[in-house]
Amino acid sequence: MKLSAGIGILGCGTVGSSVADRLQRERAAIESRSGVRYELRAIAVRDEAKVRATSLGRELFTTDAGSVIDDPQIDVVIECIGGTADATELVERALDRGRHVVTANKDLLATQGPRLAAIAASRGVTLRYEAAVGGAIPIVRSLDDALAGDEVRAIAGVFNGTCTSVLSAMEDGANYADALLRAQRLGYAEADPSNDVEGHDAAHKLALLVQLAFNLAVLSPRIRRSGITAITRRDIARARMLGLRIRLIAAAVRTPDGVQADVAPLLVPGDHSFAKTRGAENVARVIARDAGALELRGAGAGGPATASAVLGDVVTTLRAIGERHDLSHRGRDRALQPALEVAPLFDALPRHPDLAHLAIWEDDAGTIDLSKHRVHAARGHRVDKRSQGACPQV
Ligand SMILES: NC(=O)c1ccc[n+]([C@@H]2O[C@H](COP(=O)([O-])OP(=O)(O)OC[C@H]3O[C@@H](n4cnc5c(N)ncnc54)[C@H](OP(=O)(O)O)[C@@H]3O)[C@@H](O)[C@H]2O)c1
Repeated sequence: MKLSAGIGILGCGTVGSSVADRLQRERAAIESRSGVRYELRAIAVRDEAKVRATSLGRELFTTDAGSVIDDPQIDVVIECIGGTADATELVERALDRGRHVVTANKDLLATQGPRLAAIAASRGVTLRYEAAVGGAIPIVRSLDDALAGDEVRAIAGVFNGTCTSVLSAMEDGANYADALLRAQRLGYAEADPSNDVEGHDAAHKLALLVQLAFNLAVLSPRIRRSGITAITRRDIARARMLGLRIRLIAAAVRTPDGVQADVAPLLVPGDHSFAKTRGAENVARVIARDAGALELRGAGAGGPATASAVLGDVVTTLRAIGERHDLSHRGRDRALQPALEVAPLFDALPRHPDLAHLAIWEDDAGTIDLSKHRVHAARGHRVDKRSQGACPQV
């Protein structure tokens, strides 16, 4: 049994610094849970001179991410850079060198996940990404492991904390610009928030969930998406008068030929669990053939919450290293099937005549019935019957 492993981290921002701190501070617990000793050997950053709120020794830092990957004593590379500009080449190179990779990067996986998984499989290493969807919520493992013996039929949820934070601040009376500024001050929104508020981030997460839940090679550009930039204070106020809230919903339903999927701001009945999300909270609802309706909710962002998911993946990877598992046969590395069809999902949802540009989310039965494709109007709301069509209940 291999009893020690080298770890390298790429990126030391919100997530990377939290991961690095915990790897150092909670060594005894992590080593005891994994059964493997480890050494944090290096942390790559862009700017070595930057002042960092971490107690990590300066000797660990380097601006040469390639040297971290190429260090033969590093077995596990934790990628916390984000985006696809540098991370694509670095993750590919790490896998190619036979390093196990743990990442929180949905942009990367939603656009190149199947290709990277194939490289990992060919090198006999793992690519883990629990933190990429839902932050601390263990939705990736739930779909990939716990529900692997069932048949997932639909998945839906609120996965973007920036949008929820902006929308909930607007419910408290702020206008869009002030709500966005507030979300940026709270650390929920980035300096350039377009990835979040235009729905790209939620589409990336939905693509990953579709890959996991339905075993389909769907990349995020194939999913129709719209964001929250056009939502006005008037929309929010009107919705509240009707007992509804607006949330950015991502949802997908398995169809015989592929998947129906959408990301869009929808009206949600005020007592629905999606409507109750605030700030960075995420909620994921899964409908499986035998397990029925399951729901997971919790912190979808933030350094410590995201680090919790990253470190869970690190412990699993260390355990596998320790046990000398034949990692090339792990389920995560399976080949995904092509999806013939990726069709929109929300067109058939009902609409309220007073807010007809937004569809109404509805799942009151808690089960889907693909054979009937029934649509229900939100209880107690006047619904424009003309706009109702065929849509499976999620
Ligand atoms: N923040 C969250 O709450 C959250 C939640 C879930 C998932 N995630 C995901 O986690 C990942 C990291 O997010 P974050 O919020 O921690 O980002 P961040 O705060 O912007 O940190 C990015 C880090 O990457 C470093 N970096 C950038 N380019 C580099 C390069 N070429 N070589 C080496 N280092 C480089 C930066 O260095 P400098 O510090 O020197 O600039 C910085 O330390 C992203 O994929 C994000 O989507 C984040």
